[in-house]
Amino acid sequence: MKRYHPILVTLHWLLAVLVIGGLVMGGQVLAQTPNTDPAKLFSLKMHMSIGIVILVLMVVRLVIRFATQKPPQADIGNELLNKGAHMAHYLLYAVVIAMSASGLAIANAAGLPAIVFGGSGEALPADFNDIAPRAAHGILSLVLKLLIVGHVLAALYHQFLRKDSLFSRVWYGERGS
Ligand code: HEM
Ligand code: HEM
Repeated sequence: MKRYHPILVTLHWLLAVLVIGGLVMGGQVLAQTPNTDPAKLFSLKMHMSIGIVILVLMVVRLVIRFATQKPPQADIGNELLNKGAHMAHYLLYAVVIAMSASGLAIANAAGLPAIVFGGSGEALPADFNDIAPRAAHGILSLVLKLLIVGHVLAALYHQFLRKDSLFSRVWYGERGS
């Protein structure tokens, strides 16, 4: 088996765009906009909607990953690094799902569904700082950024230094047996 299933390939790249977009917009736009700014409701609506789409797609992806054949684990000749790469891939799934779950927990604690989507007209709380899952969401976003940087560096190392064309495993084409 030379490649991941084409649905997984599609989900990998779609989720890469959505997750990196969510991290950048969440940190640079959403968290920087005070809750008193009228633009905050729109930012929250976008961020929460995309976050929920990410959660659904990530769970679907995990199910398809277990249900389809995948290429053998890449071997870089070091048992510890091989194990680390295996773990890092599971961690990426776990942290993305935990990000969405903590986001939903903030929304639930602050009554956001009614305010943001229900048009209840209620004001947002002054900020989300005293909501515990908000701290978890911030810390997880940092962990996820580090994981993604490590993941991209590892992919570049494989592609350009080891030249083992690992990239083709997350692209379309004949999969072999
Ligand atoms: C532009 C950035 C990215 C590049 C260049 C990239 C590259 C790659 C490559 C080359 C592989 C194949 C590794 C292998 O077969 O062992 C891979 C797999 C994987 N990538 Fe990425 N990736 C990127 C972004 C992301 C992001 C943002 C996530 C997290 C949501 C992610 C999650 C994964 C996972 C979990 C796998 C393992 C395959 C699977 O279980 O679906 N990647 N990536
Ligand atoms: C994987 C999906 C998600 C990613 C990558 C993400 C990313 C982020 C980031 C980077 C921040 C700013 C953190 C900081 O600077 O401390 C943030 C804040 C926030 N996110 Fe998410 N998020 C996701 C899902 C969700 C979901 C599903 C919801 C709610 C349904 C949500 C609600 C919020 C809220 C309420 C804030 C606080 C904004 C503020 O403090 O003003 N997030 N998110």
